[in-house]
Amino acid sequence: MIKKLNDVVFLFLFCGIVCLIGCNNILSENSNETRSLSNHFKNHFHIGAAINENTILGNDNKSKEIVVSEFNSITPENSLKWMFIQPLPGKFDFKVSDKYVNIGSKNGMYTVGHALIWHSQLAEFMQNIDNKDETLFHVKNHINTLMNRYKGKIDAWDVVNEAFEEDGSFRESVFYKNLGKNYIEDVFVLAAKVDPEVDLIYNDYNLYKSEKRLAVINMVNKFKANGTKIDGVGVQAHWDLNTPSINEIENIILDFHETGILVSFTELDISVLPNPWEMIGAEVNQNFSKFEGDPKMNPYPNGLPNNIQDKLAKRYEDIFKLFLKHSDKINRVTFWGVIDKYSWLNDWPIKGRTNYPLLFDKDYKSKKAYYKLLELKTNQN
Ligand code: G3I
Repeated sequence: MIKKLNDVVFLFLFCGIVCLIGCNNILSENSNETRSLSNHFKNHFHIGAAINENTILGNDNKSKEIVVSEFNSITPENSLKWMFIQPLPGKFDFKVSDKYVNIGSKNGMYTVGHALIWHSQLAEFMQNIDNKDETLFHVKNHINTLMNRYKGKIDAWDVVNEAFEEDGSFRESVFYKNLGKNYIEDVFVLAAKVDPEVDLIYNDYNLYKSEKRLAVINMVNKFKANGTKIDGVGVQAHWDLNTPSINEIENIILDFHETGILVSFTELDISVLPNPWEMIGAEVNQNFSKFEGDPKMNPYPNGLPNNIQDKLAKRYEDIFKLFLKHSDKINRVTFWGVIDKYSWLNDWPIKGRTNYPLLFDKDYKSKKAYYKLLELKTNQN
């Protein structure tokens, strides 16, 4: 009888100890902080999201709740672009951008300015200028006005965006044509004079292509040799389920690390839809209207099948395993949007598709990919 009683007592004690250890793990996980992307990766890199005008103006509070609870960095998807900020010569409109910057300040976020000099979404008056003096005047005025206004509130500027072609040659933008091929460095020198504290970034897409990456690396090394301040490279990371490979992404990290600057993945999204054949990168001037309405190019109009959901989760898991492996070389990882519904990829490169590139679905719910990232082993757990 006693033996049986001993067994029961032993069993009871054993279960109690097991439960305590289990509870303790849950408690320890919960006791210090809530589960979120920013807490999960906080000892590795900033984790951010691009936010659109609706979120900035408070017309989409569900997205804002996700941003504030899950991320510790923000980027304005469009609201700081030249066509919106200075639509007419000397006429600045900071209504939306001031609200954007206040979200960052109020929530202690690493706040990014995107972008000072970019050939796209440029105010019309700038596109029509054909001389150096006028171009230089407006470039200096734009940069001085924006950087002085947001000094101490914006932590990093995409100083120049997308200045190279796929083959590594200069994009012949209005800036290149009117200011000459040294305009990128001239703009970085100006930016560093206006605000010596802020992180200065060169931002571009398709840097997994070696010719384009080499052109940027040569530019960075030239800046370094001349003592021109550049703090980081922004790798846009508009990728899909298979391209670029993990090895190609690792080459980006290693090659830029060698130049001595930090890498940021600034516009991460993973398209799950078929690519028009000749389409490459995020070059926004391509037009594929012939594919509009073609069900082959829009295979999941009413929801993402589980097997593709799993592929997307695996793809994000593989990418973030690489990011964690090299987190000493990475400053920030920013998703290009919050929920799938408002992703630019629903209308690019083909209008009217349903894409699923982000971590939160059209109903603001976390997707499998989100949970996969929270399961990754970090130096937190
Ligand atoms: O603001 C107008 C609105 O008044 C008008 O009613 C509406 C009609 O379509 O258009 C609105 O402008 C849109 C703008 O986003 C703001 O929503 C443009 O049509 C649309 O083309 C523009 O798309 C943006 C795209 O840049 C422009 O090239 C995307 O939202 C934005 O995600 C995308 O972001 C770029 C990065 O800045 C740089 N890297 C590539 C990335 C993807 O292209």
